[in-house]
Amino acid sequence: MVVSIDLKGRTAIITGAGSGIGQATALLFAEAGANVVIPDLNLKGATDTADQIRRMGGNAIALSTDVTSVKDVEKMVSSTLDEFTKIDVLVNNAGINTKHRKPFYEQPEEDWMSVLEVDVKGTWLCSKTVALEMIKRRSGRIVNIASTAGVAALRLQSNFVAAKAGVIRLTQAMAMELGPFRINVNCVAPGSTLTEGVKQGLYSNPAWAEKMLTYIPLGRGAEPREIGQGVLFLSSDLASYITGETLVVDGGWTAGAQVRDV
Ligand SMILES: NC(=O)c1ccc[n+]([C@@H]2O[C@H](COP(=O)([O-])OP(=O)(O)OC[C@H]3O[C@@H](n4cnc5c(N)ncnc54)[C@H](O)[C@@H]3O)[C@@H](O)[C@H]2O)c1
Repeated sequence: MVVSIDLKGRTAIITGAGSGIGQATALLFAEAGANVVIPDLNLKGATDTADQIRRMGGNAIALSTDVTSVKDVEKMVSSTLDEFTKIDVLVNNAGINTKHRKPFYEQPEEDWMSVLEVDVKGTWLCSKTVALEMIKRRSGRIVNIASTAGVAALRLQSNFVAAKAGVIRLTQAMAMELGPFRINVNCVAPGSTLTEGVKQGLYSNPAWAEKMLTYIPLGRGAEPREIGQGVLFLSSDLASYITGETLVVDGGWTAGAQVRDV
């Protein structure tokens, strides 16, 4: 028996797939045969992802979408239905981290709230709007992207920690409410992932990188595609009886109990 993941004929919306983990996930879904919708604030990035998918022979559309805007998210759903007639999978990947790495008592309110707005409200708004379509068909998958920061707290990014812990618990609440409609809702919590932004940011400091890697049993950061593999699994028929779960993809980072001062 050959076991494989085939999403031919299925349509997946992957928010924030104009770069990083979302882009790698979108390419993987296209390789598995899915039609891919790419809503992103960054239309240039989204268009680049869609172009790459079309060059592979796949189907994709790019949309200019702010996941915190009701109008934009409703347009995201109507454009998807116009193009592909149904929505099988929603991946809530669009997210931001804090602009100010500071103790919680020094973080400005605007920064604190903006992370909650995109990471938690954006996940809720896209899920709510897409779920109303999935409920009609009694079928669907939603995968939220959290972070290991939602599993184990980090210093100096309390808004991100609170937001991603919120995404994990929101996943469970949504799973309970959507289960009766045969809609599975799960979460992937990535650890340190080597997107271009992360490589040029934190990992460009050799002392930081060396220390960080000592905390990861597998001794390296994740490739963005390796996070996408977890998302693809949870979106596939192989995960038919999994819902309300968080799959931690972190090379073992949360398995240890070290002080993680990074
Ligand atoms: N890279 C990591 O190490 C890491 C670790 C844990 C969790 N994550 C999570 O993975 C997800 C993807 O992160 P990434 O590292 O690929 O980041 P990234 O910045 O490369 O990609 C995020 C994408 O989301 C888009 N976006 C931001 N705000 C948006 C909005 N309001 N509406 C629509 N799109 C918006 C951006 O334009 C960007 O294309 C995020 O939820 C992030 O919190 C990343």
